[in-house]
Amino acid sequence: MITLGIESSCDDTSIALVEDGWRVRASLISSQIEVHRRFGGVVPEVAARKHYEAILPVLREALGTAGLGLGDLGQIACTVGPGLLGPLLVGLSTAKGLALALELPFIPVHHLEAHLAAAFLAREQEPAYPYVGLIVSGGHATLVLATGPRQFTTLGRTADDAPGELLDKIARHLGLGYPGGPVIQKTGAGGDPARYPLPRPLAGRGYGFSFSGLKTAVLHVVRDEGDRLVLPDLCASLQAAVRDTLCGKLEAALVETGVRRAVVAGGVAANAVLRAGLDELAGRRAIDLLIPPIALCTDNAAMVAAQGFHTASLSGPDPWRANACADWAMGDPFPVL
Ligand code: KG4
Ligand code: ZN
Repeated sequence: MITLGIESSCDDTSIALVEDGWRVRASLISSQIEVHRRFGGVVPEVAARKHYEAILPVLREALGTAGLGLGDLGQIACTVGPGLLGPLLVGLSTAKGLALALELPFIPVHHLEAHLAAAFLAREQEPAYPYVGLIVSGGHATLVLATGPRQFTTLGRTADDAPGELLDKIARHLGLGYPGGPVIQKTGAGGDPARYPLPRPLAGRGYGFSFSGLKTAVLHVVRDEGDRLVLPDLCASLQAAVRDTLCGKLEAALVETGVRRAVVAGGVAANAVLRAGLDELAGRRAIDLLIPPIALCTDNAAMVAAQGFHTASLSGPDPWRANACADWAMGDPFPVL
């Protein structure tokens, strides 16, 4: 069974062909980073137009890479939310059009659930439950308890900024460029994480996150230090604060639920400082920790195809009625027209 995955929820146009939910035959990404860089963030209308230009060429290239034709496809899975509406509609229209023309099943996929599925795809393993999931990206910091396919209890989410958003905003303020996460990681390598004491927001207080106070604290350091500012030390201190905050909440959730498996995914899970902190936590608590390799942490369509494969047989509303939705809660039925 070949599943075609389509992802266009933000600024990456991605197409993947995945065999039986495990074997990635092709996974291609056309990134718009250069287009959005001069704005310091993603401009939704521009992103939608760029998806429209890229999506069919990327599809053709993916089929070529995999050595497959349209006739080999078995089903089509596409991210329908959450994300930017214009960009989502490009992927959704392409997916529905192809599925209609080829008379194939169409499977609407939740973007954050797909991020979690990436961890199991990477291990070539059927998703296993229960697990505590942490999704950290440019738009989300969400902690969930997963008990079955599309069965999630949300433990906490961010009240304001997402961690990737925090890193992107700080990097822009410091003139380091976009996206912020990778450049802050690079700048902070070898820096002293203890030089600038930064807050660990809401530490020990439930599962909710808040990153806007941390952002303000960093801006105050920049203002107060002026020419004395040691950039690598600030970047190292910031990453340590993000690591401690995320690891602290994840550890509390694991201890309180008694669950011994954790999945961490999303673009910020590519961060080396965070990954080292998570490894330390997993070792100390004897937790089975699944984090996708970096290419499967940031947005990609292989995770969408995998999630589509694992949820294709679940009952729910008629998939043809699926609509793009900016805000779709994990585990809820997909939004309909
Ligand atoms: O999951 P993703 O590709 O897109 C969203 O769904 O948001 O995540 C993008 C976010 C950006 O904010 C980017 O700065 C961050 O992930 N990111 C990183 C790293 N690579 C990407 N953050 C920290 N360290 C990284 N190495
Ligand atoms: Zn994402």
